[in-house]
Amino acid sequence: MKQKKRFVAGNWKMNGSLSQNRDLLNALIETVKDADSDVVVFPPAIYIQQVATILDGMNIKVGVQNISFEAKGAFTGEISLSMVKDFGCDYILIGHSERRTLYGETDADVAKKMKVVVAAGLTPVICVGETLEERESGKTEDVIKAQLTSVIDEIGIEAFKNAVIAYEPVWAIGTGKTATPEEADQVHEFIHCTLKAYDDKISDLVRVVYGGSVNASNVDSLFAKENIDGALVGGASLEAEGFTKIALA
Ligand code: 13P
Repeated sequence: MKQKKRFVAGNWKMNGSLSQNRDLLNALIETVKDADSDVVVFPPAIYIQQVATILDGMNIKVGVQNISFEAKGAFTGEISLSMVKDFGCDYILIGHSERRTLYGETDADVAKKMKVVVAAGLTPVICVGETLEERESGKTEDVIKAQLTSVIDEIGIEAFKNAVIAYEPVWAIGTGKTATPEEADQVHEFIHCTLKAYDDKISDLVRVVYGGSVNASNVDSLFAKENIDGALVGGASLEAEGFTKIALA
């Protein structure tokens, strides 16, 4: 398979402040300006305007961690796709395991969100991954397949044409416990096979990135694997030196 442009993103989750964001971004603007990868940050929604302003014209893009699939109206606390588009967001994170487990987001919600993102011409970064219990009972592939096919069956494989898929094993998120490069590579290959059953070309286009305790020390061994096209980084993206190393790896 042809080597794809790497995708490296920092999911800040519910972290940051006006001054921390400014310091982090000012450092990153300098250090990653020659990165060959697509570099994206996902700040909390309230900071998108600040982040988009600082990054205007830079090679680091802005994404949002979640959106509503509704267009507008009485949905207290939600933000719509047209709102994030207004602020120049290019990427939308969909179905992060924290959204699924803590906020009850279902596969059907994920499909609806993916549909509106694709219709708006933005790039969905859709997250899939198994829990420890599912892995230990040998259900990893079944879970990943169900998460993907529930979306494909609802809105079609075409929706994945411009998508990034993040494989984030739930047990590796924020735990310091990374999937081994072999374990991750195996699941990434399985994700490609699952898409291939629907459409060869789309499977080849999609970048599958790994997330779960990626840091400056383990990134090289992960990126050495054929099927790992980048990383979705949580904790290590909050600190310029570590995130730079990952973005430049
Ligand atoms: P950590 O890198 O902190 O494990 O988080 C991964 C993640 O959930 C990124 O979306």
